[in-house]
Amino acid sequence: MTVERTEENTVAYTVEGGIAWVKFNRPEKRNCMSPKLNRQMMRVLDELEYRDDVGVLVLTGEGSAWSAGMDLKEYFRETEAEGLRGIRKSQSEAYGWWRRLRWYHKPTIAMVNGWCFGGGYGPLHSCDLAFAAEDAQFGLSEINWGILPGGGATKVATNLLSMRNAMYHALMGENIDGKTAAEWGLINEAVPAASLEARVTEVAKVLLEKNPVALKATKDAVRRVMEMTYDNAEDYLIRAQEAANFFDGEGRKEGIKQFIDDKTYKPGLGAYNRSGDA
Ligand code: ACO
Repeated sequence: MTVERTEENTVAYTVEGGIAWVKFNRPEKRNCMSPKLNRQMMRVLDELEYRDDVGVLVLTGEGSAWSAGMDLKEYFRETEAEGLRGIRKSQSEAYGWWRRLRWYHKPTIAMVNGWCFGGGYGPLHSCDLAFAAEDAQFGLSEINWGILPGGGATKVATNLLSMRNAMYHALMGENIDGKTAAEWGLINEAVPAASLEARVTEVAKVLLEKNPVALKATKDAVRRVMEMTYDNAEDYLIRAQEAANFFDGEGRKEGIKQFIDDKTYKPGLGAYNRSGDA
C-alpha cells in the first residue's frame, strides 16, 4: 500500500549527546527527494543550526537507502507539468538546503547506510565528512534514464574524483560500493554496516571536543581555498583567523597556556580542555 506522508514526516531527527541525527524519512520511496522533503529538510536544518545542544549534525537515511536521488515523479514529472515556474521553484528548494548544509554552522557528517544516487551527491558533498557501509551503493544513474548528472552532481564528481573515474562513473551508469567510493575519494571511509553508527559516533565525539569557532572557520576555509590562488588563500586565511579571534578571543590563548604553562596536554596528540575557555 502506498504511504502518503505529510510534509513534516519526510524528515526525522533526534538530538542526543551533542549530535543531531537527521534522517531522510521516506524509506518506502528509498528516501528520494521530493519537493516536500526538500522543504522539510530546510526547516529541520533551520531548527537545529544554532541550538546550543547541537555540536555536530549527522545526515543518514531510514531503511535501505541513504537517498535514491531526486524523486522522478514528484520532483521531475510533476513540477515539469507546472512549467518553468514549477521547475525553478523545486530546483531552488533542493539546491537551497544543499547550499545551507554546505556552509552549515556546525560540522556535518554523511552516514551513508545504503543507496545513494544522482541528486544525492549534492547533500553528500555538502556534508563535511562522509562515512558509508561497505555494501552501500553509489551511482550517477542519470545516464541510465537519459539525462546528464545535473543539480551539481557532475561538479561533485569532478571535485572529488579523478577525471578518469568521474568520466567512467558518469558515462557508464554502473554503481560502486562503499569500499570503492572510499578508494576513489568520494567518501572518507567505508566500514561494515554493523559498525557504521559506532564509527560515526566516534568521529562526532572527537569533533565535539574541539573549539566550535575554530571548527566553523576551518570547514569554510577548506571549501573556500580550493578555488583560490595560493596568494589569495594566504590572505583569506589571515583574515578568516582574525575574524574567528573576534568571536573566540580566549580559546586559542587557553590552548597555548595549557600546553606551554600548565603542561596538561599536547596539541599534537589531542584537543585542549575547553572548560577553561573564557
Ligand atoms: N524517484 C521516484 N520514485 C522512486 C525513486 C526515485 N528516485 N527511487 C525509488 N522510488 C520508488 C519506486 O518507484 C517504488 O515506488 P512504488 O512502491 O510506489 O512502486 C519505491 O520507491 C521502492 O522502490 P523499488 O525500486 O521497488 O526499490 P528497490 O529496493 O527494489 O530498488 C533502487 C532500489 C535501486 C534505489 C531503485 O528504487 C531505483 O533504481 N531508484 C531510482 C534511482 C535513481 O536512478 N535515482 C535518480 C538519480 S538521478 C537524479 O537524482 C537527478
